[in-house]
Amino acid sequence: MLLETTYGRGYRLLGDWAASAEGANAAASPAAPLTNLPLPISRLVAREEALGQVVRLLAGHRLVTLTGSPGIGKTCLAIEAARHYAQEAGLAAFLVDLTTVAEPRQVPGALAEVLLPGGEPRVWQAKQLAEALTNRTLLLLDGCEHVVAETARLVHLIVTRCAGIRVLMTGRDTLRIDGEQVWRLPALEPRPARSR
Ligand SMILES: Nc1ncnc2c1ncn2[C@@H]1O[C@H](COP(=O)(O)OP(=O)(O)O)[C@@H](O)[C@H]1O
Ligand SMILES: [Mg+2]
Repeated sequence: MLLETTYGRGYRLLGDWAASAEGANAAASPAAPLTNLPLPISRLVAREEALGQVVRLLAGHRLVTLTGSPGIGKTCLAIEAARHYAQEAGLAAFLVDLTTVAEPRQVPGALAEVLLPGGEPRVWQAKQLAEALTNRTLLLLDGCEHVVAETARLVHLIVTRCAGIRVLMTGRDTLRIDGEQVWRLPALEPRPARSR
């Protein structure tokens, strides 16, 4: 059993997610769209409906934000939804982990590192980054709580300037951008007791 449930405290997955690719340029095969999304090592428990809902939202909107309490499962669900939708729509899909970004001004550089690798090291401005993004890509920005204002500014630039880019966000807060589709992830229902 890979899911451990602790009553009153929540649940956690035992084991790690495996990375499918070393950075943005790696691909599983020449025909496969580019991705750096980590591969799951087990299925998400009891999230079929939520997965379908997020994939449907991604199909209809260019900016989707998945909110919910810490530990509720936003990151794992967003990764699965991004993988499903990107495969369905033939998009590249890249995860940018914003939890590791220390300061707001480092947000554009964190995206550039994943989306435009191999370029000269430089300090990216939000506008320059938005102008450089031309491919059909689903961008998953995970955990922006501490840099939400700068992330919102950058995402607004990206969705208004880059026609081929869709964004899936996860966080405790929404970005408050026009057109943002917000979906709040509900807590998992406790499993019913087995009847004898
Ligand atoms: N539906 C699920 N099935 C199995 N494990 C899950 C599920 N949802 C969350 N987890 C596990 O719970 C932990 C917290 O999930 P995470 O996605 O990081 O939450 P959040 O991003 O909301 O803080 C992780 O270890 C994750 O693997
Ligand atoms: Mg998370």
